[in-house]
Formats: sequence, C-alpha cells, structure tokens
Amino acid sequence: MIDQLTIDRINDAARIEDVVGDYVTLRKRGVNLLGLCPFHNEKTPSFTVSPAKGIFKCFGCGKGGNSVHFIMEHEQLSYVEALKYLARKYHIEVVEKELTPEEEAARNDRESMLLVNEYAQKYFTNILHNHIDGKAVGLGYFRERGFRDDIIRKFQLGYCLDEKDGFTKDALKSGYKKEFLVKTGLTIEGENNYVADRFRGRVMFPVHSLSGKVLAFGGRILKKDEKLAKYVNSPESEIYHKSNELYGIFFAKQAIVRHDRCYLVEGYTDVISMFQSGIENVVASSGTSLTPGQIRLIHRFTENVTVLYDGDPAGIKASIRGIDLLLEEGLNIKVLLLPDGDDPDSFARKNNASDFIRFVEENSVDFIRFKTSLLLNEVGNDPIKRAGLVQDIVRSIAIIPNQLIRSEYVKECSTLLDVNEQMLYHEIAKIKNKQLESKLTPKTETETAANQQPKLEQSEKPGQTAQKFENEERNIIRVLIKYGSYLQFISTDENGENSTPVTVSDYILHELETDNLSLQNPVLDTILREYKLLPKDSATDVEKHFLNHPDVAVSQLVADLITEKYTLSKIHSKFRELETDDKRLNELAPRYIYEYKLALIIQNRKEMLLKMKKAAESNDASAVGQIMKEIEQIDYFKNILSKELDRVLNLL
Ligand code: CTP
Ligand code: MN
Repeated sequence: MIDQLTIDRINDAARIEDVVGDYVTLRKRGVNLLGLCPFHNEKTPSFTVSPAKGIFKCFGCGKGGNSVHFIMEHEQLSYVEALKYLARKYHIEVVEKELTPEEEAARNDRESMLLVNEYAQKYFTNILHNHIDGKAVGLGYFRERGFRDDIIRKFQLGYCLDEKDGFTKDALKSGYKKEFLVKTGLTIEGENNYVADRFRGRVMFPVHSLSGKVLAFGGRILKKDEKLAKYVNSPESEIYHKSNELYGIFFAKQAIVRHDRCYLVEGYTDVISMFQSGIENVVASSGTSLTPGQIRLIHRFTENVTVLYDGDPAGIKASIRGIDLLLEEGLNIKVLLLPDGDDPDSFARKNNASDFIRFVEENSVDFIRFKTSLLLNEVGNDPIKRAGLVQDIVRSIAIIPNQLIRSEYVKECSTLLDVNEQMLYHEIAKIKNKQLESKLTPKTETETAANQQPKLEQSEKPGQTAQKFENEERNIIRVLIKYGSYLQFISTDENGENSTPVTVSDYILHELETDNLSLQNPVLDTILREYKLLPKDSATDVEKHFLNHPDVAVSQLVADLITEKYTLSKIHSKFRELETDDKRLNELAPRYIYEYKLALIIQNRKEMLLKMKKAAESNDASAVGQIMKEIEQIDYFKNILSKELDRVLNLL
C-alpha cells in the first residue's frame, strides 16, 4: 500500500498534459488541449485534456480520469502500479507499507515479464559490446551492414551467444523466475526440466512499446541457412500483441509529429538504416500486413503516411490491400517505389541522407494514382479486365471518409481511366449502399435478440435496482462535490419572494437525512458517507480529496462525474442551455433531490403493484386492501413531489 501523502505528491507532480503528452499529440483548444483518443478508433479528435482540473476526458468513448487513471488504462496497470510508474517518472520516493506475502505474490505478471525483458535486453547488449564472441560475430555483423555505433546503441541491439542455454542459466542465477522467462518466450521449455535459449546465435532487435519498454525481440540469423528462419520473434504474450505494435515507434514518434508524416517500411533493418540516414519518422509493420491497431497507432501522431516499397511488383500487389485499410482510417497516403532491387535499407546505404530525402520528395506519389497506373499497365486494352480495374479503384475511393478528397480522386481517376465522373459516382454510391446494409444487418439481429429477453426478471436483481437510480444519484453527488460550499436560496413562501440562503451541501444532506435515504450505488454511497465527515472549511479541496482518493473506484468515478455534462430534460434544454451549472443551483440541487426521490417512489410503487398481483392471485383480499392503501399513500407523495419538481423546473 502507498500512503496518502505519497499519492498526493505523485498526483501533484504528474501534470496531466505532461503525462498524456507522452502518448498523444495535443493541440491547444481554448483553455483545454485536444487530441485523438488513444483508447478508441477515431478520426476527428474528441479527447480533451484540462490542465486546470488535472483530468482527461474522451467525449467519444467516455473514458476519463486523472493522470493515474490514464496510465492505468494506457499501460494496463493496476492502481498501485500506475502510481509507482508515475513516481519513477517524477523521481518521487514511494513510501510503502510492508507487503504481505499474498500481496507480494499477487504482483502482476505483466510487470514481471517487462522486467525480464529489460534484463534480457541489457544482457544481450552487454554481450554484443563486451563479450569476445559478441564483438567478433554480432557487432562485426552490424558494422559490416553499415550500422553506426551510436545507432546500434540507440536501438539497443544485442547478441545472443550460440550456446544452448547460456542466457537462461544466467537469468535464473540473477533471480528471474523461469515462469516469466518462458512466458516472454526468451526461454523454451521442454520435458524433464529441459530449457533452451530461443534466440541462440542471433543478433537481437528489441521491440519497444510507445513508452520505450521492451515488449519483445526479433532475432536475426547470421549465416545463410535454408533450414532456419531468417528471423525468430518473441511469441504473442500478455505484453506483446504483435498486431498492435510497430517497430520503431518509440524512436520515431516525435519526428512523426514534427514532420507530420510517417514512413512505413517492412523490416527492422529498414527502420534502422533510414533512421541512421536522418529520416527518423519511420516505423515497420515487421513483415506482416498492416492491422487496424497499428494504423491507429500511427494516426495518433499524424494523418500522412508514405509507404515505401522495394520495386518488386509481386510484393507491391500483395500489400495494396493493407493500404486500403489506411484509406479507411482517413489517412492520406503516398507511395514511394524504390529503384529495382533496392529495399529502404540498401537504398539508404547507397545514398547519403540528403539524396535519400530528395528522392523521397520527388518520387512519392499519391496512392490511388499509384494503384491506378500500376493496374492500368497490367490490364492493357482488355475491356473486361479494364472494367474490373474500375471496380477495384472505385472501391478504394469509396472507403475514403472525407467527401472533398473523394471528389478530387473521382476527377483524377475519370481522366486516368477515361470514364466519366457521373459513372464513377454512381459506382461509389452502389458500394456505399452495400456497406451500409452490411453494417445495419448484424445490429438489427442483436437488437431483436436483446428485446426478446424477458424484462420482468431484471427488476428483481439487486444490482439492477442499484443501477436504476444511478443517473439521479450521480447528479446529486456531482453537485455536492462541485458546488457543496456554494450558496443556494430556498424560498420560504409560496410566491418564492422570501428566501433563505443555505449551502448546497447543507440542503442536500438535510433532504436525504429527513427521509433517511442512503444511495444504492455502493461507490456513490461511500462518497456520500465520507463527504459528511470532511471538515467544512475553505481549506478543504473536496474535488481534489476525492480525485486523489486511495480507492481507485472512488477517484475514477469522481473524475468521471466532474467531467460529464448532466443530461438536461427535453423541455428544459431549450431555455437553459446557455447557463452554467453554478448559476442554476437554486434550481439544480432541489431538482436532483426531487428526481431521486421520485425515482425511488416510482420503483416502490412498481414493487407494490407486483405484490398486489400476487396477493390477488392467491385470493388474499385483506392483503390486497392493505396494499391498495399503501399505494394510495405512495401516489399522494408522488403527486406532491411531481409538483415540487415542476415548480423548480418553472413549469408551474
Ligand atoms: N520477418 C519475420 N520473420 C521472417 C522474415 C521476416 O518476422 N522469417 C519480418 C521481420 O520483422 C523483418 C521483416 O519481416 O524485419 C522484413 O523481412 P525481410 O525484408 O526479409 O528482412 P529485413 O528486415 O530486410 O532483414 P535483412 O535486411 O537483414 O534481410
Ligand atoms: Mn533487408
């Protein structure tokens, strides 16, 4: 456990714009900062950071919170791990209570695996630079390929000796558990305690996460050997999902933002050679075709991608599909075809940096133009093939989200393909209709499935009941936390002419207490109970108290509350849209209280009706009579409450 003082210190140091800025490109928008949400797929930014409040909020996917919550979500860490992560970043000493053996044992697998990888990276790097074989074989190989020493250091390249289990033995000796050596794939385990190094005799390329942690390795063989794979890679694991990572992104991200462009290549060596020649905004998909996850990663930093190809037509055709995915994401794509026989690596070695850059600038072409002319060459004058080509190109154009860009392409392709624009638009419309249909069909199926669920059962689950009032309860707690110390004016006569000032918190707490009400949602109720105990002086920053709360359920919920926009009732929104909450407290606080009480009463009435039905079924006339009286009583209060509510809503 980390003590509250340390938590406060971490929260104070970890400025939200700083923490988020490591992962998301933020642009100023008024008092806030805006960027593309790292937690869901989006093309227009709805991810907002408020430096003043110390919180982030995505209005697309709803995720929000403070710096610690951001790290939890982004790095998939527990609360305590995220706190420690930030403590390390800001050089804050963590005062920790003794861990119990169970807590010790519960230390997260992920963290252990990352530690093993960190150890392994240092181990292999050390061998490369200091071991006699490492220097002769590994370092010799890299130098022969033309990699400079500073680049070898920067990318943390290494060498794994050609021994059966030299690395594994040393790692075990240094106290790393076999479990994690195997889980990370560094060690291969067989029967009867057999262990072996996965990467023996290979030069090592560590694969870094966006924040620079070693997630995996690629190991390249040195000799030409037909039987062995050129590269061996770490297996998929809890920390390595190949399809969501891009090799080089950690080193490239700043340059990508700076140049507002990302170069996409195939392999490890392409990235390194280009980086060495001065083109630093380069990443590799590592041999596989691009995935949506990888595209999203790029899109966080730029909208402009240039895909580099070695001039091998088969390879180009194979990867064209992957590029359609990029288009779909709303990225602008250029293609660069390298001279025959060259890949980015060899080309970078043959040319100096400025020649390379000039070549890139002069030869990059727009993707659709590229695809069109490539395929046009192929079909020649065959009319059927030509028709197929038109279809193919139109499909690429149809998936571009931006309509202006689409019409630009239509113009161009109509010239290139010698078909009229109207016909192209017609084809695009057909494709779009089909897409729409296929998008709608599965949804309707699930919707009907959901509708068929019996509804009655739901009201009987306690968890469901708690959720029923969640909106009302959230409103109450939100007003309490944000405006508890503000004054509101309670009218003491019918015409609302005389009014007495009370604080919002006094009003709300009094209202709840007179009816002996607690909240149904356990987290909200915890907040309410703790709120009552807080000292009522101006030095107490209630918002901060709950935002930095040691219970992450509390801090997360409060972060959510203070960022969310309350839902205005329909009639209401017309008149009051422009007024902010704090100007409407006279109305808001009573309104939320009445809404909550009304919701409780309506629920109560429903339950009574069910009871009555049961009593009627068993012919218990006296019970029915009793319940009817109770319902009458309920209706009486319901009526009063509705009137009160209407009054604060100015409807009476
Ligand atoms: N790759 C892989 N496994 C293989 C072959 C390739 O994982 N058996 C991946 C690697 O990430 C590699 C990329 O695909 O970097 C591109 O493959 P290739 O062009 O063959 O390798 P290069 O990186 O160009 O390596 P080199 O220049 O040393 O041949
Ligand atoms: Mn190569």
